[in-house]
Amino acid sequence: MTVIEKAEQQVGTSTTRIEAVDKVTGAARYAGEYPLDELAHGVVVTSTIGRGRVASVGADEILAMPGVIAVLHHGNAPRLHDPGDATLLLLQADTVPHQGAVVALVVASSLEQARAAAEALVVTYDEEPHDVGFTADHPKMYVPDHVNPAFDTETVIGDVDAATQAAEVVVDATYTTPTQQNNAMEPHATTATWHGDHLTVFDSNQGAASVKQSIVKLFGLDQDQVRVLSEHVGGGFGSKGTARAPVVLASMAARTTERPVRVALSRQQMFSLVGYRTPTIQQMRLAAGRDGTITAIDHLAYSQTSTVLEFAEQTAVISRMMYATETLRSRHRLVALDVPTPRWMRAPGEAPGSFALESAIDELAEACGVDPIELRIRNEPTTEPESGLAFSSRSLVACLREGAQRFGWHDRDPRPGIRQDGRWLLGTGVAAATYPARTAPSTAAATAEPDGRFTVRVTASDIGTGARTALTLVAADALGVAPGQVTVLIGDSEFGQAMIAGGSMGMSSWTWAVTDACHELLVERAQREIPADGITVTADTAAKVKAMSRLSRHSFGAQFAEVAVDVRTGEVRVRRMLGIFAAGRIVNPLTARSQLIGGMTMGLSAALLEEAIMDSASGDYVNHDLAGYHVAAHADVPSIEVGWVDEVDHEVNPAGVKGIGELGIVGAPAAIANAVWHATGVRQRDLPIRPDRVIDTHPRPNTA
Ligand code: MOS
Repeated sequence: MTVIEKAEQQVGTSTTRIEAVDKVTGAARYAGEYPLDELAHGVVVTSTIGRGRVASVGADEILAMPGVIAVLHHGNAPRLHDPGDATLLLLQADTVPHQGAVVALVVASSLEQARAAAEALVVTYDEEPHDVGFTADHPKMYVPDHVNPAFDTETVIGDVDAATQAAEVVVDATYTTPTQQNNAMEPHATTATWHGDHLTVFDSNQGAASVKQSIVKLFGLDQDQVRVLSEHVGGGFGSKGTARAPVVLASMAARTTERPVRVALSRQQMFSLVGYRTPTIQQMRLAAGRDGTITAIDHLAYSQTSTVLEFAEQTAVISRMMYATETLRSRHRLVALDVPTPRWMRAPGEAPGSFALESAIDELAEACGVDPIELRIRNEPTTEPESGLAFSSRSLVACLREGAQRFGWHDRDPRPGIRQDGRWLLGTGVAAATYPARTAPSTAAATAEPDGRFTVRVTASDIGTGARTALTLVAADALGVAPGQVTVLIGDSEFGQAMIAGGSMGMSSWTWAVTDACHELLVERAQREIPADGITVTADTAAKVKAMSRLSRHSFGAQFAEVAVDVRTGEVRVRRMLGIFAAGRIVNPLTARSQLIGGMTMGLSAALLEEAIMDSASGDYVNHDLAGYHVAAHADVPSIEVGWVDEVDHEVNPAGVKGIGELGIVGAPAAIANAVWHATGVRQRDLPIRPDRVIDTHPRPNTA
């Protein structure tokens, strides 16, 4: 038997990415980069009307163009079975539900030929009037059955109206957030190839096992007929959480043309085909005693969905668990418009919801004359307000205190609009962050190789987060060896069912299965010699996850921002940000820090820049590219510091990790908006805080 020395604990040590060299040298292959023989290229053609029907597709002329192999459209595409996601039923009917919907796929021998032919393709339409006007008083506004993923649409505890009437202080305000678009660096792409009745797809996604299930259902295949490979993925934010158009279209086209086919979306197409964050309108009412003790929280959130699929953002759910209150009302309203289907985008629910809640908390602190950190501490609940459940751990107060100290909060003069630096007004703001810490069933396999090394297989996805590296540290510790002795293989549906890299549940779910498999492997290996093909042990956490005790499990954080505002030009510049988080055990501090900074940067971007603008006449987003849709760039991002408080939580999973994918964005826009108020004395309740909005709220005197 191979003797293995007990290694130092790896979890908690900063470790560079295992695949870093592959990535920077170009050796790492992404879904659209596999060089298959006879590869053909599919280019998606999208609708140019806001609603109606396809009247004709001028395929014949296009088929005569150089290199063109096929034009797929609703009249000739293979028939699909409903996989429970109507957005994937592509080219099945002549209906056009919104601008930018898929109406055809042009396949040619080269990408250039396919692109030229797609541009030349003439599609005519029978146009019908579209409705893209999102307003709270829309006549078709309704109460959804539940909100994403399975929360009650309404929660009511006690009588908020009576509590509000009796309250000494009331904050009653409406906040809005715009449509925000997922813009992962790598656009969605798939390379699909059939060998007889077996389909292999290289696909850019957050979960190969989940995409496989969609393909199995869509094409009516058996489990062993489909393999999804996703070794490297260039970001997702939620937009790759489930299958998207390219994997369906490439699989279809590869079958029809009997050649491997690659389909990659253009940046512009991502604005209508991958799912975005719904705009929200949020009516928020807080009632409190003069000392800031909250007696009522009333959160009513409006959002939109498409006519294709109901997606109900869980915007008001955050208000059910964040602060102690005697009475609570958290409700959602939804309207189905002729718009692209909104889906997940980093911290669905909590990201927009925290903007309203954490802004309103700041307004309440102002109204009560209580420091906003102190006000939050006064309203810290002992159990989850909605359910009465105990928290598995809740370190919000520790984050606020640690952050206050590191940020220099104690010197802060609470009065707004009094600090100046040349043309700039300066202010600081704080907000709380939270995200659920859930765990889902996963499987993993661990192999002891005859040469003394170990191989771990899990259908995890590393979308740039460093998941592969973190899992290697966890596996090394579970096996008691150095990380260099362990190879972790991910992104292959052959490895079995596993949670997606989403909902901040990836690490918590995968580490459990990986740890179990490694521990059982050590037991097996101690009992016998390692045969030539190694010893492999598999683990499935389904039963253990199901048996978890009922607790409220969340991560928390405190966001701080300092801003400079020029009320004459309307400019808002963030000078510094600090985030202190509590998310259980931090597996790899190096990549964890990057991920939290990334979330905070995305929050800054949402606070000041991001907004997809819907044109009611065309039904299209007018700024559907990165020239018009502004994402924070280096010059927008100042010093961002991240820290965390030590938190040990044995109730989340054996590794004690809570997940950090979404937490960093939550509360960041509110911290910035609260800082803008502190700088200027004027509340900004609509995102993004554009220059025109700042100018509009600071009328200049009529004198020269
Ligand atoms: Mo994230 S929106 O859970 O992929």
